Amino acid sequence: MKSYGCQMNVYDSTRMSDLLGAEGYSEAASEDDADLVILNTCHIREKAAEKIYSELGKLAIAKRARAAEGREMKIVVAGCVAQAEGEEVLKRARVVDLVVGPQSYHRLPNLLKQARDGARLTDTDFAVEDKFDTLPQPSRSQILQRGVSAFVTVQEGCDKFCSFCVVPYTRGAEISRPVGDIVNETRRLIDAGVREITLIGQNVNAYLGAGPGDQKWGLAQLLEHLSEVNGLSRLRYTTSHPVDMSQDLIDAHAGLAKLMPYVHLPVQAGSDRVLKAMNRKHTSADYLDIIGRLRAARPDVALSSDFIVGFPGESDADFEETMALIREVGFASSFSFKYSMRPGTPGAERKDQIDEEVKRDRLAALQALLEEQRQTFNAATVGRRIEVLFEKPGRHEGQIAGKSPYLQAVHVEGPVHMIGEVARVEIVSAGSNSLAARLCPATGEAAA
Ligand code: SAH
Ligand code: SF4
Ligand code: F3S
Repeated sequence: MKSYGCQMNVYDSTRMSDLLGAEGYSEAASEDDADLVILNTCHIREKAAEKIYSELGKLAIAKRARAAEGREMKIVVAGCVAQAEGEEVLKRARVVDLVVGPQSYHRLPNLLKQARDGARLTDTDFAVEDKFDTLPQPSRSQILQRGVSAFVTVQEGCDKFCSFCVVPYTRGAEISRPVGDIVNETRRLIDAGVREITLIGQNVNAYLGAGPGDQKWGLAQLLEHLSEVNGLSRLRYTTSHPVDMSQDLIDAHAGLAKLMPYVHLPVQAGSDRVLKAMNRKHTSADYLDIIGRLRAARPDVALSSDFIVGFPGESDADFEETMALIREVGFASSFSFKYSMRPGTPGAERKDQIDEEVKRDRLAALQALLEEQRQTFNAATVGRRIEVLFEKPGRHEGQIAGKSPYLQAVHVEGPVHMIGEVARVEIVSAGSNSLAARLCPATGEAAA
């Protein structure tokens, strides 16, 4: 199972593994040893989609080698390329046996049965049945293997139709899972040893799920309810859209101790002209206002964003407005991309596409500024005492590693039995990718 793209795909990959585990499959050590290979693909940018075809080229060789030994290898393309390209994938890559979309993968067992009989199939229907209702729950040992931090999908799909983006087409309309299902899934994870839950959705803060009675709950209410689950140490959520950043969600950052002070809030660009052309439905002033209110609620909140440079029509002056916005906010970390034309989106129709070289130069300047801010943010934690959730053994013998409240990687000298615990550390130095820290002497009080 190979997962590309966003957290939604990571989550779907674990659910597909659970599903196939129940069918008697287990994880192979390498693809040469696999009877079944699933690529859970991403269609967001051209590069991401093309990567799949080069991967399939390599798999064709492995498949032939196995066939020469009289062994089978079935190849499945799942995820957003599957949804976007459907049968085209079967035509373009002869090696593929099965194409299955993000809303139909719960039907994999049946599809695989047909594939074993020699059929080459595509299933990219948006299912009438709810895939979550038919998926099996993972076992305790499966959960533990995946670590103490887990994703729970609460919302899927997107109705926003930003003019550059394929997600509304690959993932379909916005839907929210019912509160009860999310609580049950969270409880199971916590019972098995998970300590941190990240609620995920393409527009997670647009969450509006069926609660008790006839009530509809928003994300703030859901977070408040989940924070009362015993044994849970930390809550996070991602990815948020600025227009759905309601005041009660902002207030939750002041009121909920388990809600971590980190918000991923993509702005994409700083120029109102570009934001309008992107169909983002907010201005840069709206964004700065949200940031101000978040900081008022939780002064130490760390912020991150996604940026696109070189959207059609973006002038040097527009780009400078993005740089100005970045300087004004100060981000702890960010993702940034050159605009990539995606088939079927309004952005791809525009005649005023930006030269590749201009995009490259803008991206380099933007990333240099974001990297400087990331390092400044990390350096500012040196000398501070903060809490870390330990997740795994560190890179060196005797070390354990985890995350700060601000999602920074932190390592200390410490015993492996502390994995799964939240402990107070003092940050000693900031490396390029991880903070070095030492454990503070236990004070007797339990760390939250
Ligand atoms: N739902 C989230 C993110 C979805 S995709 C949001 O609304 O912000 C993740 C990121 O990929 C986007 O935030 C955007 O920065 C980037 N992206 C999406 N389409 C792109 C495209 N055509 N070219 C370059 N980057 C793109
Ligand atoms: Fe894509 Fe925009 Fe929807 Fe995010 S909000 S998934 S960028 S269309
Ligand atoms: Fe990629 Fe699909 Fe996620 S296009 S970013 S895997 S929703």
